[in-house]
Amino acid sequence: MTTEDPDEAARRLAAVSLAADDPTGWFERLYAAAADGAALVPWDRGAPHPLLVDWADGRELGGGSALVVGFGPGFDAEFLAARGATTTAFDISPSAVAAVRGRFPGSSVDYRTADLLAPPPEFRQAFDLVLEVMTVQSMPPRYHPPATASVAGFVAPGGTLLVITMVAGDGAAAAGPPWPLTRPEIDAFGKDGLRPVAIERPEQRWWRAEFRHD
Ligand SMILES: C[S@@+](CC[C@H](N)C(=O)[O-])C[C@H]1O[C@@H](n2cnc3c(N)ncnc32)[C@H](O)[C@@H]1O
Repeated sequence: MTTEDPDEAARRLAAVSLAADDPTGWFERLYAAAADGAALVPWDRGAPHPLLVDWADGRELGGGSALVVGFGPGFDAEFLAARGATTTAFDISPSAVAAVRGRFPGSSVDYRTADLLAPPPEFRQAFDLVLEVMTVQSMPPRYHPPATASVAGFVAPGGTLLVITMVAGDGAAAAGPPWPLTRPEIDAFGKDGLRPVAIERPEQRWWRAEFRHD
């Protein structure tokens, strides 16, 4: 196992991809290295995001469909499935798909490889609940508008979008990854028939934004 700081190792991999104008290639290299025990996945918290768990508390999620964007370690997708949602989850990295299939054998989640920047047409307005946690921010800012538009477009009429992501700092944009989101970037999810229900900063570093498709 590597002793390099996981965030630094991820940034080093990302720098190679970004220098080649490839915003996402480093994710597959990271998950493949993690599968070989040569890297750690920095965002693998071993549990669903606490702001998702808090949001879901007391809500009825069963009976509907859910889509998890950039599922990563898979805990958020498993959480929604355990709460009764028929859950689909996608990630750009085939090794991430292989990892969750190994980690959650017998899972009811439909894990797939797909690119948020060129999503499957059948995802268009197809899900009652769409969950986006830190995927848009994992790409450089110029990719945020098309990624945001894709996320918003997944929500079915009457459905809900939940975005949990980091807050961009004041001052000059830090070198990423990640590239956390500004308030205007959060507001930008309110398109394609979506209206904001609650845009919160429950913690200093985190946005939690809920939108509804009328
Ligand atoms: C910072 S991680 C967050 C993972 C997970 N949502 C979480 O909260 O732990 C970003 C994830 O999005 C995936 N990803 C990045 N760009 C993507 C894209 N264009 N399409 C699909 N997945 C993408 C990465 O492979 C990675 O698993």
